Amino acid sequence: MKYKELIAKMTLEEKASLMSGKDFWQTQNIERLGINSIFLADGPHGIRKQAVGADKPGLNAGEPATCYPTAATVANSWNAELGEKVGEYLGEEAIAQKVNVLLGPGVNMKRNPLCGRNFEYFSEDPYLAGKMAASYIRGIQSYGVAACVKHFAANNQEERRMSIDTIVDERTLREIYLTAFEIAVKEGKTKSIMSSYNKLNGTYTNENLHLMQDILRGEWDYKGTVITDWGGSNDRIAGLLAGNELEMPTTAGETDQEIIQAIKRGEIKEDVLDECVDRLLDLIFTTEKAYQRPHVEFNVERHHRVSQKVAEESIVLLKNEGNILPLRFGKKVAVIGDFAKDARYQGAGSSIVNPTILDHTLDCFEESGIVSIGYEPGFERYGKKSQHKIDEACELAKKADVILLYLGLDEATEAEGLDRDSMKIPENQIQLLNAIYEVNQNIIAILSCGSAVEMPWIGKVKGLLHGYLGGQAGARAILRVLSGDVNPSGKLAETYPLRYEDTPSFRHFPGNEASVEYREGMYIGYRYYDTADVNVLFPFGFGLSYTTFVYSDLEVTKDGVTFIITNTGRIAGMEIAQLYVGCDSEDIFRPKKELKGFDKVFINAGESKKVKIPFDDKTFRYYNIKTNKWEIEEAEYSVLIGASSTDIRLVDRIHVEGTGAPLPYDKIKLPSYFAGKVTNVDEEEFEILLGRKVPVSTWDRTKPLGYNDIIAQCQYAKGWVARFTYRLVVFAHWYLRKVGKRSSANLIMMSIYHMPFRGIARLTGGVVNMPMLDGILMMVNGHFFKGLRHVWKERNKKVRFTKVKL
Ligand code: BGC
Repeated sequence: MKYKELIAKMTLEEKASLMSGKDFWQTQNIERLGINSIFLADGPHGIRKQAVGADKPGLNAGEPATCYPTAATVANSWNAELGEKVGEYLGEEAIAQKVNVLLGPGVNMKRNPLCGRNFEYFSEDPYLAGKMAASYIRGIQSYGVAACVKHFAANNQEERRMSIDTIVDERTLREIYLTAFEIAVKEGKTKSIMSSYNKLNGTYTNENLHLMQDILRGEWDYKGTVITDWGGSNDRIAGLLAGNELEMPTTAGETDQEIIQAIKRGEIKEDVLDECVDRLLDLIFTTEKAYQRPHVEFNVERHHRVSQKVAEESIVLLKNEGNILPLRFGKKVAVIGDFAKDARYQGAGSSIVNPTILDHTLDCFEESGIVSIGYEPGFERYGKKSQHKIDEACELAKKADVILLYLGLDEATEAEGLDRDSMKIPENQIQLLNAIYEVNQNIIAILSCGSAVEMPWIGKVKGLLHGYLGGQAGARAILRVLSGDVNPSGKLAETYPLRYEDTPSFRHFPGNEASVEYREGMYIGYRYYDTADVNVLFPFGFGLSYTTFVYSDLEVTKDGVTFIITNTGRIAGMEIAQLYVGCDSEDIFRPKKELKGFDKVFINAGESKKVKIPFDDKTFRYYNIKTNKWEIEEAEYSVLIGASSTDIRLVDRIHVEGTGAPLPYDKIKLPSYFAGKVTNVDEEEFEILLGRKVPVSTWDRTKPLGYNDIIAQCQYAKGWVARFTYRLVVFAHWYLRKVGKRSSANLIMMSIYHMPFRGIARLTGGVVNMPMLDGILMMVNGHFFKGLRHVWKERNKKVRFTKVKL
C-alpha cells in the first residue's frame, strides 16, 4: 500500500467516511490529516461544473465551458491524435475550473441505434471506441487531472437502466462490450472508472466479482479507483468487497455506517477497506498535484476555435450527386430549417455543457462567402406540421439555385435516461422536404443529430452532409465544408441500416421487464450486416470527400501492413484507411471481418503516401470459453484494406500460427451463430451459447416490492396509494408530452418512473434514509398507516441523531 502510514493514523470512521461523497460532486475530506475533498464533474465533451449542492444532473446549468463535439461526432474523425487534443483542452478547462475528476469519456457500445445516449458514445466497434477513448484519457490526464471512463459495463440502453439485468455470453462480453474499456485501461491508463447502473448476468456491476476482480483488477491489472454511477450503489458491502472505492453522491454517512458495522461484526476484514482507501487517496493526492501549478484562465476564443476544428474533421459527407458540393461561387442559396437559426449541437442529460460561445448558421453566413437569398424555418422544431411554414419555405425555394435544408432531431429526443421511440426524423420535416422537392430539386440536406436515423427520403436530396452534434462551433464548421473551405474527411463510426427492423437486436431491445438478452451475441453493427449479407443505407466507415483516393501496393508481413494511397483528385484531402481481418476457418464462428486498425492521412493533390498499420495483440485473438483465455486460431486470415467496411480496395492473406486451444463450440448446436443470422435466435440456442439457463425476464408480481424494484412496478403494488401514485406519474408524463413539455416528461421517466426505490435514499443526500425507505415500502406494499408511522418514527430518530452530532 502506498499510503500505509497515513492510513494507520486514521480511525475506522474516518476511513469509512472516504468511501462515499461529501455532497453531490465532492469527496469527503479529513482536515486533521490534510486530506482534502476533490471535485468530480461531467463530462465527456465539456466541463459541466455545477455549484456545490446542485442536485439532479441536467437541472442546473454548469459554469460556462467549451462545448466540444460529442463523442459520437469526434469518432467520425477516426483521428486519435485529434481525440488527444480534445482531451488536453478538456484537461486544461478542468484545471481552470478546479475539477479533479472528469466523468468521461463514455465508451459503451452502440448495440442498438435507439439507445438515448448513443450521442455520448463513440462507436459500434470496440477497437475504434477504445482507441478514441484512450486518446481522450491521455489528453485529459496529461494535465494531472483524472479521466473516469464510463459506464462499466454492458450499459447499452437507457430504459430501466438502473434495474435491468444484461444477459450476455462471456465471449461477446469480452470481444464486444469490454474491449474498449480494456484499451482505455491498458493504453489510456485511466485513473478512474465509473461502474454502470445495470446488473451484468445477475449481479450489479459494481458488486460483480467476475467483472471487477477477475477481469478489471486481475487480468487488466487496474490500480485505479472505481466510482459508482450516481445513485448506482446497491449493497455497499458487496460493492466494497468487489473493490468499489467511491460511492457517489453522498448518502449522508449512512452507507459509511454500514461499512463500519460490517467490519465490527467481522463480516469483512478492515484490510479490504484499507486497500480501497489507499487507492482513493492516490486519486485524491495525484489529482491535487495538478493544482500546484499557478492558476490560469483558459483562453475562451482559442478553445472555441479548436472546437470548430474538431467539428470540421468529424463532419461526414454522405451524398454528393453531380458534385453539388462544394457550393459554386455566386449560387443563390435558400436556407431552410429551424436548426439553421438555433443550432442543435449537443444532447440532453448529465453531459449538458453551458457553452462559452454558441455559433448559429444564420449568424455565420456572411463570412462563409455563400450568397444567401433568405431564411425560412419551414417547420416547428417541437411541433406538428405547419402548412403556413411549408408554403413560405417553398416560396423561398422557388427563387433559389440551391436549397440548404437543415434537418435533424430535437434536444429532447436524444437524452439520457430515455431511448428513442424510432429511427425516424420528425414527420413535419419530411413533409417539408417533400413539398420543397416539388418546386426545386437542388436540395442539400444538413443533418444534426447524434445517432443513426432512417432516410427513406434520401432520393429527394442531391447532397447530404451529416454534422452529428458538432459542439458550440459546429454550425460554422458545417458552413466551411459547404463552401469548400474545408474538404470533408469524416467517416461513419456506426452503420446506418435501411430500416430499424434490420438491426440485429431489434427483437431484444430494450428487453423485457427485468432483463435484456443479448441474443445476437457478437454480431452488432457491421459485424452483423456484413456477415448476414444485409443491405444497409450507409456502411460503417463510409464517408465521401471532395477528392478521390486510389489504394495500391499492399504488403503484408507478420508485423503489419503497408500500402500506398494516392490522391487522384484536384484538391488536398484526408483519407481514413481501415484495416479489417477475416478468418477463413469455419471451426469457430466469427463476423466475416473485423476492424483491427486504421489511419488517417493528409495527402496533397496528385501525391502518394505510404501508410503503415501495425498488427497488435488484438489482430488475431478471440476469447475461448473453454480455456477462459484469449487464444489465436491457426488458420489463413484475409487482410483487407478498405475505404469503408464494404468498400474494400486491397486484399491479401496471411497464415497465422495458433495457440493450439481446443475448439470451443459444437457447430450443430449453434446454427444461427455459425451462419451469422441472429435476428431470430431461440431461447434454447441462446442458452447453449450462454452455457446456462436464462433467468425469468418478467417482474415477479407475487412478491412485495423491495429496494431494487422500480417505481413503475407500483402498477401492481398491494397498496392503493402506490397504484394511485403510479397512475399519477403516467398521467403527468402523458400530459407533459401533450402540452409539448417533452424535456420535463423525460425527466419524469428518468428520475421517477424507472428509479428503483433505493434511489429515493441514495439520491436524496440523506433527506430520506434507508429505515425511512422501509416505511415507504410498507406503504407501497399495502400497510399504509403502519408504514407512515414507521417513516415518521425514523424521521424523528434521524433528526435527533443529527442534532446530537451537531
Ligand atoms: C450518469 C453519468 C454521470 C452522472 C453524474 C449519471 O446519471 O449516468 O454518466 O456522470 O450521472 O452526473
